[in-house]
Amino acid sequence: THDQTGTLRTPIVAVLGHVDHGKTTLLDKIRGSAVSEGEAGAITQHIGATAVPLDTVSQMAGSLVDPDDFDLPGLLFIDTPGHHSFTTLRSRGGALADIAVLVVDVNDGFQPQTLEAIDILKRTGTPFIVAANKIDTTPGWNPQEGEPIQQTYEAQSKQARQRLDENLYEIIGNLSDEGFSADLYWRVQNFTKNIGVVPLSAMTGEGIPDLLAVLMGLSQRYMKAEMEIDVAGPGKGTVLEVKEERGFGATLDVVLYDGTVREDETIVVGGANSPIVTEVRALLQPRPNAEIRTEKRFDRVDQVSAATGIKIAAPDLEDAMAGAPVRVVRDRDVDEVIEEVQAELAGIEVETEEQGVVVKADTLGSLEAMANALQEAEVPILRAEVGDVAPRDVSIAGTAREDEHKVILGFNVDVLPDAEEDLEDSDVRLFSHDVIYQLVEDYDEFVTERKR
Ligand code: GTP
Ligand code: MG
Repeated sequence: THDQTGTLRTPIVAVLGHVDHGKTTLLDKIRGSAVSEGEAGAITQHIGATAVPLDTVSQMAGSLVDPDDFDLPGLLFIDTPGHHSFTTLRSRGGALADIAVLVVDVNDGFQPQTLEAIDILKRTGTPFIVAANKIDTTPGWNPQEGEPIQQTYEAQSKQARQRLDENLYEIIGNLSDEGFSADLYWRVQNFTKNIGVVPLSAMTGEGIPDLLAVLMGLSQRYMKAEMEIDVAGPGKGTVLEVKEERGFGATLDVVLYDGTVREDETIVVGGANSPIVTEVRALLQPRPNAEIRTEKRFDRVDQVSAATGIKIAAPDLEDAMAGAPVRVVRDRDVDEVIEEVQAELAGIEVETEEQGVVVKADTLGSLEAMANALQEAEVPILRAEVGDVAPRDVSIAGTAREDEHKVILGFNVDVLPDAEEDLEDSDVRLFSHDVIYQLVEDYDEFVTERKR
């Protein structure tokens, strides 16, 4: 069973959309868990990956997905954060994905981040479908738990149906304004030319069978046509998170999007100072339907193939950066692979100026998102780095000429004990938060306060 040459790769499905439109809830419903309840400010701050096997898909989709019709192993869903500061994380989610689900709240309609997501999908040429979510909030709605949309429609009053239709046609109109010919999904013949809109509720599950059926059909066709890829090649992935695990030290949560990685293989990983060359000690796989960010139990495996979320244990991973590339070396020259990793990292550097604030963030993606948010707010950056607040950051911030630049903005990071002391002894201010826009707002308020 280990020879996977010629096997279809698990399609990567990115879930995009405006904040609070229901991306995480939709995935929760599909995998039967409750990740969204445990999130800070209920906003998804990192990209999460969940592998949903074919049997789960067909179980949820009932008669709409017959597993015998498909030779795909399942779907790998990537949840992405919705706040406007997350453009870059999302674009990475978009580029990583084979197909995307754009979640739009039927009552709220198109919002700025919906448009941003569409821009990313256009730019990356990612085929997508629209999940018109929260249909259960339509006034007078009569919910039909977990049913396909046709059955649900039949159970509604004429008024409720009309109200929903009005909202759906508004969404279709908005898509057309963006240059897409769109329609309700059951009227769409060719999903690579026209955008299908699937009305659903992440809360009650109605319409989710339809969404899964469309996703399976679209990926089966799309992947067959375009990517009969060799999943046995050297693995390529992106680091989601660097985490300490008991017994393993620093480990990486990775989305493997191409090829295979095996135990004992040499890998190159993007690090804070330079690329890290190391050897895989253990591959730890979350159970099916488990979210890699929150899962505590893993199965140890000797190799995995794309696409999947996998935890990699290896020596010397302390300096690895979330958002950085991971590459299996295998039969290639190690220097060649190091260069590849360096080239990819060079594409995601933050612009800094001679005067400005110091920014620390937990991942490359969030650092980039912070930089974007600060640029939008016209806040100059002196220095931006991934990692906890260290004494060096305090001394750098302390050299600023203006008081409003004697500032460290920390997103989702800790303060090292020595830095804590240095902060007390200096006039440097630390703002820290795990919600980006809150952090920018807090700083803005401080600057305005001072100008009064
Ligand atoms: P970000 O990760 O912050 O971008 O948000 P999100 O798109 O993941 O939204 P999330 O799933 O956290 O849902 C936001 C809120 O909408 C939560 O309170 C959900 O319970 C609610 N919600 C999501 N889907 C539905 C739905 O279909 N019906 C109803 N009534 N509420 C929903
Ligand atoms: Mg979310």
